[in-house]
Amino acid sequence: MDKKIFVTQPLLPELEALNEELKEIWTTKKVTNAGPKHNLLEEKLKEHLGVSNVSLCNNGTLALLIALRALSLPYGSEVITTPFTFAATPHCISWNGLKPVFCDIEPETMCINPDKIEAAITPNTSAILAVHVYGFPCNVEKIQKIADKHSLKVIYDGAHVFSTKINGVDIGNFGDITMFSFHATKLFTTIEGGCLTYQDDTLKRKIYNLRNFGIRGEEVVEDIGINGKMNELQAAVGLLNLDLYKEEQAKRKILREYYTSRLEGIKGIRIPKMPPSVTDSYQYYPIVIEDNFRVSRDELYAQLRAKNIYARKYFYPICSDYDCYKELPSASKENLPVANDLKNRVLCLPFYGSLEEEYRVKICDEILRG
Ligand SMILES: Cc1ncc(COP(=O)(O)O)c(C=O)c1O
Repeated sequence: MDKKIFVTQPLLPELEALNEELKEIWTTKKVTNAGPKHNLLEEKLKEHLGVSNVSLCNNGTLALLIALRALSLPYGSEVITTPFTFAATPHCISWNGLKPVFCDIEPETMCINPDKIEAAITPNTSAILAVHVYGFPCNVEKIQKIADKHSLKVIYDGAHVFSTKINGVDIGNFGDITMFSFHATKLFTTIEGGCLTYQDDTLKRKIYNLRNFGIRGEEVVEDIGINGKMNELQAAVGLLNLDLYKEEQAKRKILREYYTSRLEGIKGIRIPKMPPSVTDSYQYYPIVIEDNFRVSRDELYAQLRAKNIYARKYFYPICSDYDCYKELPSASKENLPVANDLKNRVLCLPFYGSLEEEYRVKICDEILRG
């Protein structure tokens, strides 16, 4: 194929519509610091995410940094997390002066395995930071039970689950705080951006302070904050994309059905199944390459790439392989057998609504070749 097919494409509003928004911003000259578009997006996201509190941030990583900080976890304490995630997850723990402790994942959901969490708890554990991987929700009930038993905070990295519901309950309502990323690669995007959702109203003031340098008034600085503010241009893109993401999900549903119709039942390909209790976000299409497929995951990746199809080995390497974490006792391969197995098997296929018919067919033909 001449054209390069990447794993995703950003959902962008019509340029004319964005220009109208920009004209307004240029007229009011209110460009950042909780401007009108920012405040409107926060209000609207409450409805879309079905939550009582939303705090916008300039990206998901800053949001997660702030979430951990807002919960006042004791400095140097341990946070149990998963290695099967993006770098931002353990990095936010470390940047807060906390210690990531890796726990293995479940083979089907690829999320943290709740049955292995208790063994990782020590007197120094303060929280669990779990990730809803590829839109598969963590076992939120089991995680909450463990957290309650051991008085731990629960934070969810929900970068992959915008608008997901579990048994009709919006996913941003579980744990103490959930982070959503609005990066350009995500279903709902503000190009860079993110937010926190939480039920405890008292966190609102704390989070507001932390994302604005801790500044409360002209002469009052209450906290050691940071610059986590979303600007008006990001918010404008977000407001327009709120009208687009559902249609994008509908298109991705058709693409998913097509991929599944071609790839399901093929020897050596496993397609992780979304449980019927979950209303899916439609952010990724991962496949798992088993030993009895005609080639290995890496060979398939290379074969596709030679045809200009850029599928993604996501997540590879896993966080416990990084130079900065590999010496941690919890990063050992013996502690993380499932994550270490899946890192060599998962491939995320190109997944966006505007992927043309001809390329959908070619991607599947190429996978099934031979
Ligand atoms: C699981 C996960 N966590 C955190 C992030 C970081 O979000 P951001 O890029 O908005 O900072 C991402 C993606 O970018 C992600 O996929």
